[in-house]
Amino acid sequence: MMVERDVLSRRAILRVLTLFLARPAGVLALIGRPVVARAQGEGRCAATQADLEGPFHVPGAPSRIAIAPPEEPGDRLIIRGRVLGPDCATPLAGAVLDVWQADAQGSYHGPAEQYRLRGRLQTNPEGRYELFTIKPGAYRIGDRFRPAHIHMIVTHRPHAPLTTQLYFEGDPYLAPNDACGAACKSDDFGRIIGLRKEEKMGGEFWAGMFDIVLGQPGT
Ligand SMILES: [Fe+2]
Repeated sequence: MMVERDVLSRRAILRVLTLFLARPAGVLALIGRPVVARAQGEGRCAATQADLEGPFHVPGAPSRIAIAPPEEPGDRLIIRGRVLGPDCATPLAGAVLDVWQADAQGSYHGPAEQYRLRGRLQTNPEGRYELFTIKPGAYRIGDRFRPAHIHMIVTHRPHAPLTTQLYFEGDPYLAPNDACGAACKSDDFGRIIGLRKEEKMGGEFWAGMFDIVLGQPGT
């Protein structure tokens, strides 16, 4: 399936939005200002920081830009962004984002549930991607919680592959309160995004921007 050709076409977006917005948004857990996690930060260019892969990655997830079907409980969420080369400017077409996350209650699912909340998507010729999902829930490790997050492995040869996690502004479990401790880096401002509310086709959802910069080969 030629997902890269399909990812940002108007028809594809309308089709996904129709499915995505079929379920009304529930009580929204995060209220964030429209902040974009910029690859270049304040004039600085650096590769996006890696983070712990964790134990829940499953290879073989299907190619799709909507990893949450309409019946998936939770607040609708769209993440948009670009995958860029080490210069923070060159768009990387055909980069693959292998994405997985917990459900709204903080539980992971797998192949037996049609790879629920998992998927692989590719950037378009401008290096852009769009991910349609729900906001993940925090989950407990011992007597503490991990902040809400989305895992991803980003690949584009010959650049260095990136395994990382995306976080959300205002989450009370971000580091130093993260149950993951020093193994995770949830205090990296470059991977903590703000969300803003959008309305389309009679529905509402939260939206955020996340640009990803890959490192030089071999880094
Ligand atoms: Fe996780």
